This record gives sequence, structure tokens and C-alpha cells, in this order.
Amino acid sequence: MAARPGGTVGVDAVVPLNDLRRGFDAMADELQAVVAGVLSAGWYVLGPQHDAFETELAAAMGVRHAVAVANGTDALELALLSVGCRPGDEVVTAANAGAYTTTAAMKAGLRPRFADVDPDSLLLTADTVGPVLTPRTRAVVVTHLYGRMASTRALVELCRSTGVALVEDCAQAAGAVGPDGPAGSLGDVAAISFFPTKNLGALGDAGAVLTDDPERAGLLRRLRQYGWSSKYTVVQEHGRNSRLDEVQAAVLRAKLPHLASWNAARRDVVARYSAALGDGPRRMVHGSATGSPAYVGHLAVMTSPDRDRDRGLLDAAGVRTDVHYPVPDHRQPLLAIEHAATALPVTERAAASVLTLPCFPELTDLEIERVCDVLQQL
Ligand SMILES: Cc1ncc(COP(=O)(O)O)c(C=O)c1O
Repeated sequence: MAARPGGTVGVDAVVPLNDLRRGFDAMADELQAVVAGVLSAGWYVLGPQHDAFETELAAAMGVRHAVAVANGTDALELALLSVGCRPGDEVVTAANAGAYTTTAAMKAGLRPRFADVDPDSLLLTADTVGPVLTPRTRAVVVTHLYGRMASTRALVELCRSTGVALVEDCAQAAGAVGPDGPAGSLGDVAAISFFPTKNLGALGDAGAVLTDDPERAGLLRRLRQYGWSSKYTVVQEHGRNSRLDEVQAAVLRAKLPHLASWNAARRDVVARYSAALGDGPRRMVHGSATGSPAYVGHLAVMTSPDRDRDRGLLDAAGVRTDVHYPVPDHRQPLLAIEHAATALPVTERAAASVLTLPCFPELTDLEIERVCDVLQQL
């Protein structure tokens, strides 16, 4: 990991939750050069940058095929279609991961069903998913939430034995590597987002679907471009336009080699917050995972028995926070009536107690210390 900038923090300065400008500044010359290269090349969609990015991404994520698309939500929807989900099928997922899977599933005409999460990791497990499966379940989507990989081994076995597809949502876990392999290489198919705040972030929207299966990759390529098998020949239903442009592909190619060191810097931030909280009633949700490559510190999330008070104290000290996520999917206005009988006690408790602290690779030592000082006083 590169040395962290010392920086200066005046007493009145704010510690931001994230600051994308710093990430840009750190590689401004390179990013400006690659963008200028695309502009002058005169090829803007599905060109050489895109093709090279797909190849480099697949190699980095430990899969045979990466199919780049316009954003992570499209990636989830296309991943679900690619495993044979059809309108009316059920998709089992977590309700504490920001409703992206739910949105994608509903767009494809699928019915979300929600499993509760493990109280320690806030992730799905085979034990929480198993009881929710029904004969109509076609897929399980497991989100590697906040940068922590779920334990996929038992989930893979459960899905295989019940004939259900396993989709990994790696939007928050780019570069995480678990005991059985990288995030995105363990289920039938995986979706990833390169939204600017992600560990590997574009300068706009971008995403990809990952798979080892060449036929599925072919299907995904048809789905992302009008259902075409070749130019102007429509063979596939559910086609649409969801392509990654050359500018974003070139930016992501420039950033990909830095992913591992950025992830290390993020883990370090969370480890320091975890040490500052100590053994009290407050804890970093994934504080015990900060030494593991299966964790990449996407969001530094703590739990607190008095979240709103803590948030107020942090804010008063100039430390910006957020909540990921305040409303579980089954309590969202669009779904609340249909899911009135759904009870997810761990998910609901977590929604009331999670609090996200500043975490990005360019945080300075002084900023981290300043957050730690406040955490020690909570
Ligand atoms: C877990 C998760 N899944 C999916 C998405 C959707 O990605 P996008 O915003 O690129 O559509 C996001 C983030 O935005 C996410 O955090």
C-alpha cells in the first residue's frame, strides 16, 4: 500500500464521506490522456478500449468472460435473464442491500422474495436462504455487502441441490478474493457496477456481467445490444441497448491496475475505526475481516445502539456520515403492501442501527485520526 498523505485538517474542516475529486487528482494526467486518446480515435461505442477492458476485467475477476454493460442494475437484470428467469419466477435476495436487485428483478417481471441476513455479517447465508426457497424460485442473488464476500460455498451447494441459479452481486466487492476464488467467479453468473463511488469506479455509469459459460456470454452480448445476433438481425427477446462506451472503458482500464492497493487502503481505514471503537456496544460490521482479502472495505459501516445520537455527534465534529440503507426493500413504499407479512427481524434491526463512516483510499492520516477520536468518545 502506498504511503497515505499526511494532509492537514483544520478544526473547522469537514471529513467527507467520499471525495471523488481526490481520486481524480491523483491520476489526472493519465486519465486526461486516455480520454483524449478516445476522443481523437473517433470510435466511441464498442471499440478497442471496450474489448480490451472486457479481456482485462475477466482476467482480474477470475472468469472466462466479462460482458460490459451500461450500469450495475442492467448487469443484474441481464444476469437474471441469462440464467433463464422468466416473468412470474421468484428471485430470493437480501432486503438490506439498497433495492438494486429488487429493481432489476421487477424490471424483468420477476417476484422478489426476501431472506433475512446473518446478525454478525449482515450477509445472506445458506441457513437464511434455505427456508425461503419455493418451487417457483429460479435464482438467488447474493450481495457481497459493504465489500465483504458472503460464504458462498454452502450457498453454491444449496443452489445446486435445489436447481436454482446463484447470481453474485459484486458491485461493492470488486477485487475481493475468498477461499474458493474471487468475488464474481463462484456462482453461475455475477453482476458488477462501476458507479463512480465503487472501489473500481468509472467517470459515469458503467457495469459488467461475469461468467465462465461461453453460451451465456453470447446470450448476454445479444441481450445488451437490441437482441442482435449480428448487425440488424434480431434473434433474442428482451434485447435492449446497454453498452459501455469507449471513454468509460479507457478510464476503467487505467484504474484497474490500482484496484488492489486502493482496496488495501480501504481495509486499513476500517481496521483503524474498528480499533478505535474497541469492545464496546458499537462495532464495525466487518471489523474482524479487515485482515482478509475477502474484504475490500467498500463502505465503513458501524452499528450503534444509538445511531441517531452518534450521527449527530459525528456531524457536530465535522465527520460526514450516511446510512446504507435506511429502508429495507420489503418496507419500501412500492412493496410494503405486498410484503406486509414478511418479517426480517435482523434486517429491520440493522436498518435502524447501521451508520456509514468516511472511507476512500485518499483519506489522510489526520482525517482518519480525527474520525477515530470521535469514535472513542461515543
Ligand atoms: C450492491 C449494489 N448492487 C447494484 C448496484 C447498482 O449499480 P448501478 O448504480 O451501477 O446501477 C449498486 C450500486 O449502485 C450496489 O451497491
